[in-house]
Amino acid sequence: MFNIILFGPPGSGKGTQSEKIIQSYGLYHISTGELLREQVCKATPLGIEAQRFMDSGELVPDDIVIGMIGKKLEENPGGKGFIFDGFPRTTSQAEALDELLVRNNTSIQTLIALEVPQDELKNRLILRGKVSGRSDDNDEVIENRIKEYRNKTEPVANYYQEKGLLSRINGNGTIDETFGLIQSEINQLLEKATS
Ligand code: AP5
Ligand code: MG
Repeated sequence: MFNIILFGPPGSGKGTQSEKIIQSYGLYHISTGELLREQVCKATPLGIEAQRFMDSGELVPDDIVIGMIGKKLEENPGGKGFIFDGFPRTTSQAEALDELLVRNNTSIQTLIALEVPQDELKNRLILRGKVSGRSDDNDEVIENRIKEYRNKTEPVANYYQEKGLLSRINGNGTIDETFGLIQSEINQLLEKATS
């Protein structure tokens, strides 16, 4: 299996690039943000609990998201591998993911960190907010999402850097330029794995 983490601040292009990676490499996409929004939409107890955190731009508690990931991995054993989008977002989530993957006899091959300047992140999200219907795509909540990212999520990159799995990529070009950089990173790793 080939498992990737797509990492980066809100608006860095995780969802956009995930779609392109799925098309080219056939990996199974797991986005905790999308899974949570589904639960909110269905007004399940989990969704109701998560919504207040999401609406204020705060991270949802670890046990909720780790539980969701565990379930998804169980439902999809085998396959070519997973692309984790927006997870892990704390060091505890990263540790839990390692344990879950070991139980499935697999591991993370790379964390791809998309780097985009703060002004560009805000521009993208405000623009998307005009059409997305996402309640968290507004000025004040965007600020808070970026703050949560800097405080709680950015340190997760160090966790993977220590394992030699961190790959920083410029996410400030066009969508296709960024995908080109991601592709060459993935292809290099795939070549190494088969040689
Ligand atoms: P989540 O859904 O993960 O949102 P996010 O990380 O805040 O980021 P986005 O999904 O908004 O951005 P993205 O990086 O996917 O960019 P995209 O491709 O969409 O999380 C939402 C909330 O759920 C969190 O705040 C939290 O409360 C909770 N949550 C989720 N996971 C959690 C976890 N693990 N733990 C705890 N809580 C969790 O692109 C953005 C826009 O830019 C789009 O309009 C796109 O078209 C455009 N765009 C993309 N690339 C480019 C480019 N190269 N040039 C120009 N425009 C571009
Ligand atoms: Mg996203």
